[in-house]
Amino acid sequence: MFTARGLTKVYPMGDVVVHALRGVDFDLFPGELVVLLGPSGSGKSTLLNVLGGLDVPTEGHVVYRDHNLTEAGEAALTEYRRDHVGFVFQFYNLIPSLTARENVSLVTEISTDPMTPEAALELVGLSGRLDHFPAQLSGGEQQRVAIARAIAKQPDVLLCDEPTGALDITTGVVVLEALAKVNQELGTATVVITHNAAIAAMADRVVRLADGHVSGVERNRTKVAARDVTW
Ligand SMILES: Nc1ncnc2c1ncn2[C@@H]1O[C@H](COP(=O)(O)OP(=O)(O)OP(=O)(O)O)[C@@H](O)[C@H]1O
Ligand SMILES: [Mg+2]
Repeated sequence: MFTARGLTKVYPMGDVVVHALRGVDFDLFPGELVVLLGPSGSGKSTLLNVLGGLDVPTEGHVVYRDHNLTEAGEAALTEYRRDHVGFVFQFYNLIPSLTARENVSLVTEISTDPMTPEAALELVGLSGRLDHFPAQLSGGEQQRVAIARAIAKQPDVLLCDEPTGALDITTGVVVLEALAKVNQELGTATVVITHNAAIAAMADRVVRLADGHVSGVERNRTKVAARDVTW
């Protein structure tokens, strides 16, 4: 689905330059669940943002199916994000004055082939919380609403930047189970950034970044169920 080659990202910061990516090659295949691991500052979020059309590389190219993202203008990138990509971040970014169902509806109302908000919330195990406001939900539940919002438009790819970063272990596992279920049942290709190497066990493939380089790629022969991930 994605072919990224020779990605570099350079940020000029006064007298110094920060190299966030130094020549990254990355592929993502349909239906895959890939975990992106690496120390703080290694370029994980930068890579994810480039794949998601939130940022453009300094050099190199990214092709999503037949869309060359590196040659796309701002309008084409916006369309690409809207039609194809779901994002989940560490902080849930829910609208506090809207219920779970209404937060998801914001997306389904502007999508071409959405599932219903109820179906999306059911998939993440929140059928019993449709009319709760974010303040009436636990952290893990709020993150699952954010996942429901991201998948309700039936995106081709789900990009998650530390989705369990703000959660305790038990809650984190429930969130990972929701992601694995979406990946399996909808076939949504999924990339999950995490600091927690244990989470890598549930991936089809693990890509390690170090200092802006890909330092390793491993394929898991036996994939562990999200509920069996031990921190
Ligand atoms: N907008 C920016 N301007 C300048 N430097 C940046 C910017 N965004 C990221 N960087 C730098 O690029 C490098 C890679 O950042 P990135 O956010 O991709 O790391 P990361 O692997 O996601 O780290 P973390 O695990 O801490 O989230 C870091 O050294 C960071 O300081
Ligand atoms: Mg990051």
